Amino acid sequence: MSVGFPRVVVLHGPSLGWLGRREPAVYGSETLAELNARLVSHGDALGLRVSCRQSNHEGELIDWLLSDDREAIILNAGAYAHTSLAIADAIRAIAPLPVVEVHLSNTVARDIARHPAPVGAACRARLEGFGGDGYLMALDAVAGWLRRQ
Ligand code: DQA
Repeated sequence: MSVGFPRVVVLHGPSLGWLGRREPAVYGSETLAELNARLVSHGDALGLRVSCRQSNHEGELIDWLLSDDREAIILNAGAYAHTSLAIADAIRAIAPLPVVEVHLSNTVARDIARHPAPVGAACRARLEGFGGDGYLMALDAVAGWLRRQ
């Protein structure tokens, strides 16, 4: 793929490295490596250069949010999505760079501790409950936004 294509960084937060073996009834059986391969290949089809990173550490996710290497971000902050004003502040700091929040599960249909969404409130859009396909839908949306810029 040409280096001139828009870059989209996909950030996966805590415990998402365990996808496939972590609560498969909630999160499915696809591993993170399999999901990332789907994202890169879907990005290729859309003319986007997709790179994927995972961290269990809030500060590392913030460092990646605040770096200068992309035109859009797709973020699943895991449990930090419900608590982290620091991640929300970093997303506001990089505005108007589009950030889409994705969750595999439908968090508002789960326990009440997962209902607060400070990170989602700072994002351009949110998608949840579609499993891994939600990330592909987010890529479709990002491709449309970047095309129309
Ligand atoms: C999750 C939902 C969060 O509540 C949870 O803490 C996760 C995964 C999801 O993708 O459904 O780690 O972000």
